[in-house]
Parts: sequence; structure tokens; C-alpha cells
Amino acid sequence: MKLNSNSLTQVEVPSLRPLDSSSDDESSRSSNPESLSYESETSKWCAPIEPHVGYKKVLVTGGAGFIGSHVAEYLLQRGDDVVIIDEMNDYYDVRIKELNLANLRLKFKDEKRLKIYRGDICDENLMLQIFEDERPEWVCHMAARAGVRPSIQDPYVYIHSNIKGTTHLMELSARFGVKNFVFASSSSVYGGSKSTFFSEDEVVDNPVSPYAASKKACELLAYTYHHLYQLNVTGLRFFTVYGPRGRPDMAPFKFIDRISRGVEIQQFGDGSSSRDYTFISDIVDGVVRAIDRPYPYQIFNLGKGSGTSLKDFIDMVQKYTEKEAIIRVMPDQPGDVPYTCCSPYKAEHLLGYKSKVTFEEGIRRTVSWYKDAYDKHDIEVCPETQANGLGRAPSMVELRN
Ligand SMILES: NC(=O)c1ccc[n+]([C@@H]2O[C@H](COP(=O)([O-])OP(=O)(O)OC[C@H]3O[C@@H](n4cnc5c(N)ncnc54)[C@H](O)[C@@H]3O)[C@@H](O)[C@H]2O)c1
Repeated sequence: MKLNSNSLTQVEVPSLRPLDSSSDDESSRSSNPESLSYESETSKWCAPIEPHVGYKKVLVTGGAGFIGSHVAEYLLQRGDDVVIIDEMNDYYDVRIKELNLANLRLKFKDEKRLKIYRGDICDENLMLQIFEDERPEWVCHMAARAGVRPSIQDPYVYIHSNIKGTTHLMELSARFGVKNFVFASSSSVYGGSKSTFFSEDEVVDNPVSPYAASKKACELLAYTYHHLYQLNVTGLRFFTVYGPRGRPDMAPFKFIDRISRGVEIQQFGDGSSSRDYTFISDIVDGVVRAIDRPYPYQIFNLGKGSGTSLKDFIDMVQKYTEKEAIIRVMPDQPGDVPYTCCSPYKAEHLLGYKSKVTFEEGIRRTVSWYKDAYDKHDIEVCPETQANGLGRAPSMVELRN
């Protein structure tokens, strides 16, 4: 079902120049790990390719979600056409996704360059129709069931949306001659790795949740589609993304929301567990760089390149919300990875990617967005089950049975 009946123009709109790593935000990535150096790492990768700079029509799957809506906004801003497909499931409050789409429609209301479809990427008829009607030459595949813990409770929906959905899209992309297929993988694939810094050449054959396994499966299938049909495919392993319009099931949103409202937060473990939190603008930058550079087959980490402990994280949220956190300490959760930190060298070398937003600055901006959105009632307090990431939509698998 189409949400928006805007007809599409075929007017050639030149894209802005490719992203410049020295632009905007402050340069900030903390010191690189001593064990790895950019110079020692770069020798093992191929030479970077020149970015494609012309007009693009990009199919953005999951474009109503957190990362997809930000990428769509960036692409529209620079002059590309965007076709969104999203099933608008209620894994978290659907009103947030509706707002993301409304925001895009508002910002580009006079434009005919945005088209939005509502549906499941596994729906064969719908997706075939979209490829036939829209003929996107570039695919940015962000749609997926996200979340580690819910995947342990209901693995089937992850197999459906993530593995079947990605396979279906690659099948169509190969058939319709897509120039570059970029998809979201996850740092979760590193599972129980004992490494301090995760690099792409690490063997990741031990995923510790169905979610992680589904992302690893997508990476494997992506190679197969590249091998069989010469489809250019790039998988991006995101490291915990946060920022304005962030997902309410994730720790950054939950902590900011609950600490602001004086509601107890759960701290899993002793607070020493560490994550590489990546601000949304840095992720968008990396995604767009990957879209513009059609490598035959590549997997990249996209993260900040330095970790923040849970304890420091909570302290930072207290600082910017100006509220004291009420903390309940809980045992570590099954499926959780104790330490994730991204080795960003490969993306630096081949994509020219470099994160720019410090954790403190990212939290400051996110709290500022939260206060504004909360005051305007753009976000309402979700039932705690949903805010915990346990709310879930009836999956297509269930509907069909
Ligand atoms: N946010 C993070 O920190 C993070 C970290 C690692 C990987 N990722 C990956 O990045 C991508 C985007 O994540 P996000 O945080 O924006 O999540 P999100 O849940 O906000 O966005 C995903 C969107 O995909 C849609 N979707 C899910 N299944 C679908 C289907 N079968 N058909 C059509 N639409 C479907 C959902 O309705 C949702 O709007 C996902 O692939 C996720 O696994 C995210």
C-alpha cells in the first residue's frame, strides 16, 4: 500500500559533492588503540576507489526507522531521489516511525523526490512492483528486526525479516542490475570475542544470539550474491548507534528518558562493561560513503573507535539532564557482549570515514533533542514493556500461519 502518491520526477538532480571528512562537527575520535596502527593495517586492503558523484535514486529499506530515516534525509538533502519501504511494525512505538516519515514529508514537501511504500520486504509481489516501477539503481538496506534480547525470545521473526528479507532484496537487486547494495550488519556478530578491538578480519563464527546469527547469515549470503551475480555488496557493522530520534529500546534513549523522568534505570553488571557508542551523524556519513563507493564485496565496521563504560555513560546523562539517576544493579544478560570497540581503520582507508562526534557532545545533543521532543509531546512515555524492547509486532510469519 502506498502512503504517498507523489509521482516521481525523472529530473536529473546533481548530487552534492561526496562527503568531506574534514567538514562539520568537531574532530574527536579518542586515541587509537596502540595494538593497531593505521599504517600497519592499510597494507592488507585494496586501493580505495573513486566515489560516484552523480545523481542517484536510492531504495532505502527501513526508512521509517531510526537510521534509515536519517540516511533518507541526508540523501534527499543532497539532491538524490529516495524510495522508502517500511512495514511499520510495532517493535517499538509506531508513532515514532510515523513521526520520522512526517518529518521527511515536511522537510521535502515541495519535492517529488520522496516516495514511501508500506509493506514487508519479503512480500514478493510488492517488492517486484517497486523494482519495476521505481528502478532504483542503489539500495541502502536498513530494514531489519533489531535487538538482541527479543531475538532470543522470538528468533523466527529475525529469520524472516533479516535473512529472508535481505536475500529477497539481493535477488531483486541482482536481477534489476543494482549498482551498489549496502546493508546494515551489526557489531553483534563479534559475539563473545575476547579481542579488545574488533576488526573485520576476525573470524566471527560464534554469534551468541539469533539476531547476531541473522546478521552473520546476511554477510555470508551477500558474498554469495556477489559471487554468483557480481552484485556489488557492502555490509556495515554498526556499533551501538544513538542520537536524536534514537530507538527507545536502546540504552541511550532509555537512560536519558528514565533519568529525565526520575524513573529507575537498570544497570546490567557492575558498570564496567563498555560499548563503542556512535553518534547518528557519523553513521549516516559512513553509510553514504559506502553507497557512493561500489566495492565488489566488502564488510566495514562503522563506529567511533573508542569505548565508554556504562558508569561513565550514566554520569554523562546525569550531567546533561541535570538529574540524579536511580540505579538498580542487575546481573549480566545472556547474549550481551561485555566489551565492544570498533577498529575503524578499514573504513578510514577505503571509505574515508572518520567519526567526529565525541560521546559527551553526542549525549549533549541527544538530551537536548529529548527535552524538546518531550516538551512538544513528540514522544510520549511508552509502556515499560515496549521501552524495554519487549514489545513486538505480530510477525508476517505469525500472520501467515
Ligand atoms: N541502532 C543500532 O545501534 C544498530 C546497531 C547495529 C546494527 N543496526 C542495524 O541497523 C539497521 C537499522 O537499525 P535502526 O536502529 O534504525 O532500527 P529501526 O528498528 O529503528 O529501523 C528498522 C526499520 O525496519 C523496518 N522493518 C523491519 N522489518 C521489516 C520488514 N520485514 N519489511 C519492511 N520493513 C521492516 C521497521 O519497521 C523499522 O522501521 C537494522 O538493520 C539494524 O539491525 C542498528
